[in-house]
This record gives sequence, structure tokens and C-alpha cells, in this order.
Amino acid sequence: MTIQFSTKIFSQADLRSPKQLKSSLSLLLGQNSDCLVLAYAKTDLDDFSGGRGAKPKPGLLSELDLLLCGSVTHANVVGDLDSKQASTCTLRAEKSWTANGIKAKRVLLVSLGDLALPGARDLSAYSKIAKAALKSLSGGSIEDAIWFTPSFALGHKAVFLAEEVRLSIQYAGDQAYRFGVRQAAMKFKAKDKADTFAHLTFVGNDQCAKELKAAVAEGIAMVEGMNLAKDLGNLPPNICTPTYLGKAAQSLIKKAGLKVEVLGRKQIEALGMGSFLSVAKGSDTPPQFIVMRHQGGKAGEAPIVLVGKGITFDTGGISLKPGEAMDEMKYDMCGAASVIGTMYATGLMKLKKNVIGVVPTCENMPSGGATRPGDIVKSMSGQTIEILNTDAEGRLILCDALTYVERFKPKAVIDVATLTGACVIALGHVHSGLFSDDEDLVNALTKAGQSSLDTVWRLPLDVAYHEQLKSNFADVANIGGRPAGSVTAACFLSRFTEKYKWAHLDIAGTAWKSGAAKGSTARPVPLLVNYLLEQ
Ligand code: BES
Ligand code: MN
Ligand code: ZN
Repeated sequence: MTIQFSTKIFSQADLRSPKQLKSSLSLLLGQNSDCLVLAYAKTDLDDFSGGRGAKPKPGLLSELDLLLCGSVTHANVVGDLDSKQASTCTLRAEKSWTANGIKAKRVLLVSLGDLALPGARDLSAYSKIAKAALKSLSGGSIEDAIWFTPSFALGHKAVFLAEEVRLSIQYAGDQAYRFGVRQAAMKFKAKDKADTFAHLTFVGNDQCAKELKAAVAEGIAMVEGMNLAKDLGNLPPNICTPTYLGKAAQSLIKKAGLKVEVLGRKQIEALGMGSFLSVAKGSDTPPQFIVMRHQGGKAGEAPIVLVGKGITFDTGGISLKPGEAMDEMKYDMCGAASVIGTMYATGLMKLKKNVIGVVPTCENMPSGGATRPGDIVKSMSGQTIEILNTDAEGRLILCDALTYVERFKPKAVIDVATLTGACVIALGHVHSGLFSDDEDLVNALTKAGQSSLDTVWRLPLDVAYHEQLKSNFADVANIGGRPAGSVTAACFLSRFTEKYKWAHLDIAGTAWKSGAAKGSTARPVPLLVNYLLEQ
């Protein structure tokens, strides 16, 4: 089951922000719902309880208490209300509520803590609050809820409203995601437990209607893109092959109005992608080269190009990986999945920009036909590469894709790849690695990461690191030794990006989670969608 999102717009006379509390509250409480989510500030609770020795003052909670016939007082007396940020308290309907014309079956109170202070615009605090509220909504018998966005309720600037709404939808989508429900072809698990919580409605008035509706539509598109990226990532490598990725991309022609082309081995050979092909050589499964286009901008407008690493399984090749956790190398196509997911979201949003997604995809397998350490191959750019380690294959497929995209005369190119284990060592699972010499691109991507809480951290690309990639026998070596492994990988890629503005995202530590919660995160789809929206 997927979660549905909708908006409900009232007239400004009926639903006001932040004044006219009483009539606005009774309007919201009078809507049919399993739960109405309301946020309160620390000051609301102080006013209500008469904190700091003062006498109780009228405000949000006292108005609510009147309408709910003392339920708030009761919750406060028994100690269920806490001003600590993100603490929650569920009030359940009583007979007296119905007599008051209240149709909400529950009211979920969420504490904003200090977030409500004027000028406070802390998205990560808001995310904690949203997550706590969503957690309270799930797992029980609640099917639908009404969400009164705090930034609207508190009269914050509308620009925050969009981010807040998108983020709430992003998290609700994360919470509702179940693997396998969208794959009709095969049931992966006998028992797939779906959450009952299935419908979230955002309320607003006609003053913010346009903004709110747009943000909800963007959020929905983002969740669709994220679900697709997660499914592709989580699918087993015997099903999610390069051919499967090609078909998934092709399904976006119908689903999102994209133009999609999938090139096979012959066409890849004709393009002279000797580096890409050297990785595919060890596999019985043919490589594919996927090009997806969204033409939402003017005809001649330079496109933003996204390139995703699509290794559907990385054994390391002849430089075979150790066996431990090798199953997780099915996630080595998460760059590709995030590009396909972002293209899907872009199409669904009918974004008024030209965006192109490119995915080189193959398997990295050892076999009698596989590339050996020491082999020299010629890339599409003409540069020769000495392959010293066949496990450094991501850069070998990406470099040819980066040369290929020159033809689009791009405004900017962003590649996304689970490129190096070294990036996991450097940044862990918090930030994705960002590499770029273009300050504007760095700023835009950093900001997009912050507004979607899908963050990046910049790492260097200095020429000094290029030394490590020198080869005695070819123009460049494909590895630069252990020191600064993520940087030398990025430096390798930079040699193929001279004709345009470029950034590289290393998502090795952020694309999936290991352990008990093993699964794809769909990162950096939120970042990329926000970046495209903010352009
Ligand atoms: N796909 C891996 C990178 C990776 C490893 C991502 C572990 C996430 C977790 C990549 O193809 C790879 O094997 N890189 C090598 C490069 C090395 C041989 C220079 C690595 O990081 O060990
Ligand atoms: Mn590898
Ligand atoms: Zn790899």
C-alpha cells in the first residue's frame, strides 16, 4: 500500500493564521478524520499551565481545551504534555467531544519546543518533530490524518511552508515504504505487513493554497521517485540486471512522459566506449546505456544532465572482493536508481526545465573473458587507461558516460555513484561526498541538500592528487593507491569533464543502510529534486 497525500483548502475568513484561533480550531476539529495533528509551542504550554509562576493566559491550548471539554487539562494534569521538542501526546475522542460537533477521532499534539520563536527556521528540528508525529500516526488503527502545518499555523514565511510540506511527505513516504509491493511479477516475502496509515491531508487557506498545492504535488512526485529508486536498489541482482534497469527507464515514457533510449552492446561499441565495455566483458549479461530526457524547458535551453553509476552487481571482477557482505554490492547501481528516480519525479512534476538522465549499466564479474589487472583500454575520450584494479570499475563506466554527455552542451553535469569505500570511511553514513570546482554548483547542491536534509560535504579535487593516478604505460591509471581514495577517484573522473560545469556525488555511505534495517534510502533523490526545483 502506498500512502496518499492531499490538500484541503478553506477560505481565509474561515481558517486564519495565526489569529482567530477558536473558529479555526473548531473548523479543523469539525473535519472527519482519524486524527488531527496540531503543533504547539513551548510558550503555548507555558501560557496554558501558568508556567514561570505566572497565571494561565489564553492561547492555543486553552482554546483547544474548551472545545475538547477539558481533555487538554486532563492530559496536562497527568503529565502527558511536555514542552520538550518533538514530544507527542494523543487525545482520544470522548462522548462530550461529539456533542460539541467534533468529528476528529483523535488529536495528536506535537511540541515544537523553541521552533515557534519568530525567525527560527530550523529544518532539522522540524524534521524531528515531523518524524515523531508520523511515528505516532503509524502502527495503530489510524488510517487518515489531517496535518496542520506549523509554519502556516504560526504564520511563518511561506517559503518555509513548501520545504516543510515536502519534507513531511518525504518522511511519510519513507515510513510507508515497503519493499516488494510494487513488483507484481514476484512475491519476495510470504508476509508483507502494510501500515494502516494511508492518507495524509494538508490544510491551508486560499492565501497559501497555490504554494501548498504545489508543494504537495512536488512532495508526491518526490516520493514516487524515491519509491522507484528504493525498489530498484533493493531488488536482488538476479532480477535487477542492466536489461531490467533499461526496462524500468523505458516504463517512464508512459508513466512520466519522458523520452527514453536504451543502447545495447553494438551501439556502445560503435560509440567507442572501450572503458565501459572493459567492465562488462566478464559478464554474460549485456551492458546497456540508458538516456532519459525530460523536455520541460525551451527547445534550445541547455539541459541539466544527471549521470548515475549502474553496476547491478560488483564482485570486484578479477580483483575479487572479499566475501563478507558482498550481497550489498547489489546496491552498486544506486547512483543509477537515484537518477532514474529523479527523472521520474521530474516528469511527474512537469518541471519547466530540460533535464537529461544518463545511466551506463553492467555487471562487474570475473570470468575467462574478464578484464585483467594490467590491461590497457581506450576510453571514448581517446585517453588510454591502465586498469590496475578491476574493482575500481565505477569510474571506468562513468568516464565514457561523461564524455558522451558533452553532446548535450549541458548547463551542468552531476554524476552520482557508490564510487568508493574510502568515502564511507571519510564521511560515514551522514553526508554524501561532494566534489566540484564550480563554486555555484557547490553552493546550489549544498543548499539543496540542506533543504531536503539529504546533505553533502565537500571534499577536495586539487591538482596535487592527480599525481597518484600516473601510469608508466597509459595516459592514466584507474587507481591512486589507498591515501585519499575518494579524492583520486573523483580526480580520475574530472579528466573527462573539461567541457562543462561538473559535480560528483559519492553516495557509497548514504545510498543504503546495512544491518537489521538493511535497505535503500533513495538518497540523493531528495537533494537532486530540490536542486532541480531551486534552479
Ligand atoms: N562499489 C565499490 C565502492 C563501495 C564499496 C561502495 C563499499 C560502498 C561500499 C567500488 O566499485 C569499489 O570497489 N571501489 C574500490 C576502489 C579501490 C579498488 C581503489 C574501493 O573502494 O575499495
Ligand atoms: Mn568495485
Ligand atoms: Zn563498484
